[in-house]
Amino acid sequence: MGKIISGKEISQALRAKIKAEAATLREDSGIQPGLAVILVGNDPASQIYVRNKQRACEEVGFHSQEYKLSENATEEQLLDLIGVLNKDNKMHGILVQLPLPDHIDPQTVIQNIAPEKDVDAFHPINVGKIMIGDYDFLPCTPAGVMELIDSIGVEISGKHCVVVGRSNIVGKPMAMLLLHRNATVTICHSKTRNLAEICASADILVSAVGKANFITADMVKEGAVVIDVGMNRDADGKLCGDVAYASVEPKASYITPVPGGVGPMTITMLMQNTLRAAQLKQSRTKGSAE
Ligand code: GUN
Repeated sequence: MGKIISGKEISQALRAKIKAEAATLREDSGIQPGLAVILVGNDPASQIYVRNKQRACEEVGFHSQEYKLSENATEEQLLDLIGVLNKDNKMHGILVQLPLPDHIDPQTVIQNIAPEKDVDAFHPINVGKIMIGDYDFLPCTPAGVMELIDSIGVEISGKHCVVVGRSNIVGKPMAMLLLHRNATVTICHSKTRNLAEICASADILVSAVGKANFITADMVKEGAVVIDVGMNRDADGKLCGDVAYASVEPKASYITPVPGGVGPMTITMLMQNTLRAAQLKQSRTKGSAE
């Protein structure tokens, strides 16, 4: 019988901790963590994500500001705004919501964010630091998944972990974090042969594909831990993950629901990164004053 890992509950506990740490930082040094969120265009899903990120900031006592640019804004306008925010002392984190309109190159944009304010951990410097295992920030979704796995106390070392999906945002860093914890990691993607067989050999299966009902019960080993990063709509328009939940849940030892699994953790880890950016800035400032 699958045991449900509640990202909602785990993230509530973490947010309470983040809120307390932010209050301490404010009392000790007068610094309030600040997050700038930039949204270009009118993508409905992005609008919801951005609103949720701002609400989370309010919840933990951070300063946050949304910057809305029109669908037709130029790359130069966006880079100018990032340039201003890079120098803004009240903003410790800068997040540009993806995807961007086609005429704007996301890599150019990401590379213009000051690495110490890159709370998504998408800048090549931060990606490289993650690769060598010496990092300031972890990308929010993979970091949230690690928290969920750790919450159930299951040993990762030596386990076969299968990550389905190879995006820069989730799949690739996810595999790296599991590798750092001594898992044997397989990354699967759209060209993988024997996908079902590989998935069915996983002790821990992480799906980040973006297709409803993609992971079926035959692809899951009895007793596996199943983490569903998907955020999809089913045929009835209902929010669902990648995993065919009803049939997979009885086989899994632990499973994350959608909604209420990975989703809330992603935003919580963004809060954690923003707090860390503010703490790091404070220690750098202190260091240079001494
Ligand atoms: N779009 C989907 N996921 C993310 C994310 O983690 N960060 C940003 N900036 N945009 C996204």
